[in-house]
Amino acid sequence: MKNKISDSCRWSELAPDGHLEKTVGTYLYLLVVAAVFLVTNLSVDPLVYYHYCWEPKYSPGTRQPKYFSASCSESNVNSLLNLFVKSAAFYTYNNFTVNGLYGLYQCSGGDDISSGDCLSCVDQAVRRLQSHSVGACNCALQLESCLVKYDNVMFFGLPDKTAMLTYCGGRSYNLDESTLINELVSSLVVGSSGSSYRTGTSGEAQAVAQCTKDLNESDCQDCLTEAMQRLKRMPICSTGTWGDVYLAKCYLGYSSRGATGQEMKKSVAAKPKQPVIPRLDITRAAD
Ligand SMILES: *[C@@H]1O[C@H](CO)[C@@H](O)[C@H](O)[C@H]1NC(C)=O
Ligand SMILES: *[C@@H]1O[C@H](CO)[C@@H](O)[C@H](O)[C@H]1NC(C)=O
Repeated sequence: MKNKISDSCRWSELAPDGHLEKTVGTYLYLLVVAAVFLVTNLSVDPLVYYHYCWEPKYSPGTRQPKYFSASCSESNVNSLLNLFVKSAAFYTYNNFTVNGLYGLYQCSGGDDISSGDCLSCVDQAVRRLQSHSVGACNCALQLESCLVKYDNVMFFGLPDKTAMLTYCGGRSYNLDESTLINELVSSLVVGSSGSSYRTGTSGEAQAVAQCTKDLNESDCQDCLTEAMQRLKRMPICSTGTWGDVYLAKCYLGYSSRGATGQEMKKSVAAKPKQPVIPRLDITRAAD
């Protein structure tokens, strides 16, 4: 690209007037394309932690995918997605049912999360789903600050511990810090049952746990316990300076010595991911 531009500039100096105009036009066009590309990248592409769509579920007792039923029509999916955006201006969690399509969204964080931040995240998520997942009616999209999920079978209140994403990193960790983190995570999961959103700090370490609000207490507890066990099973996760586990209905994450690991996490998460590939267990280690 760079060479092309400088070539055409060199050429334009030698060209007669008419050609010069045309070349400058081309040059401007390239600049505009570059600018649009940048703006698109900055404003439309948020940090995508995961984005999956699965095959639609079959109607009970038939071999006919529900996909061909009205619940999966593009207009029905859009109606649901639009309800999310309208609702996110007021609520940080909500669920809807539209003609046999079930969906919920949830913003990350406790009750103190601002509705503006929640709305902006859900709005970005919905726009991404509308542009990347046309025709799919069974999707889950986790951005940095919100989850949007819909399905043609009812899933509200049902436990789901499918591993969506495990991210861990930051190696140079000493035993004391590892112990501190492990104790902190355990205290959050085992020691403070009840709330669907929990945070804790210990020294420089911090941890967050959150379930989707449709889960009851015992299913939430069960989901977080599974997430904690996954963190412990992954060698890098049990010794790294940060870790995140996303199961389908809960999230558990910790970080210590803050920014370095978090920044790395963001650069990893920002890499584009391909939607519409059914995958059940995606485990990544970034370091
Ligand atoms: C929570 O929901 C599950 C079903 O997902 C049910 O089996 C369990 O009894 C419920 N527990 C409580 C305490 O309501
Ligand atoms: C669905 O949302 C309504 C509020 O709109 C709430 O009262 C209800 O508890 C929610 N149900 C589930 C399973 O999350």
